[in-house]
Amino acid sequence: MDALKCIKERRSIRKFTDEKIAQADVENLVEVARFAPTWKNSQSIRFVAVFDEAVKSKIAEDAVMGFEGNKNIINGAPALIIIATVDKRAGYERDGSFSTSKETHWQSFDAGIETEAFCLAAHEAGLGTVIMGIYDEDKVREIVKLPEGQSVSALVALGHPAEEPNAPKRKEVADLLTVI
Ligand SMILES: Cc1cc2nc3c(=O)[nH]c(=O)nc-3n(C[C@H](O)[C@H](O)[C@H](O)COP(=O)(O)O)c2cc1C
Repeated sequence: MDALKCIKERRSIRKFTDEKIAQADVENLVEVARFAPTWKNSQSIRFVAVFDEAVKSKIAEDAVMGFEGNKNIINGAPALIIIATVDKRAGYERDGSFSTSKETHWQSFDAGIETEAFCLAAHEAGLGTVIMGIYDEDKVREIVKLPEGQSVSALVALGHPAEEPNAPKRKEVADLLTVI
């Protein structure tokens, strides 16, 4: 698929068919996402793929801060991807000090770029995703037993789309771009 078409046509998918997602499907998406740029090529993004229904439903019930929307998405998705980041790599010097005044910001920046690459690769493969930011980090961490020294940056539901939503309205270029 043409790259521009892929960027413009990807939509957040919140309803999925019952068709399963294979581990190989997720491997193929991570295979692409790993080419995303990262701070000094630090490559500190990690992916935890949850297929186990019991674990998935525990996250849906206990770790989305009661947000019904995300609860339904996670329960209805065949796979849930936890986007994790290894702490103190992106935006840090070797001695552990911050590289810039934006401090921890670059960790999430890297996670965002890599997550979008993952979602675009999924769209190209005919799969649907939605990035979710409403979750309880401590609970997700505990449920999936995230290794010490890693943080949760986002959750991504993954499956075969059961809807074709229209694009939510976008601002015009003139509203977004300042030329100096
Ligand atoms: C950082 C981030 C957090 C988001 N969190 C949620 C969420 O918790 N639940 C949800 O249903 N959608 C969530 N979304 C999806 C946005 O609502 C969606 O991207 C936006 O409405 C634009 O729609 P589109 O992705 O179809 O273009 C999130 C998106 C981003 C980038």
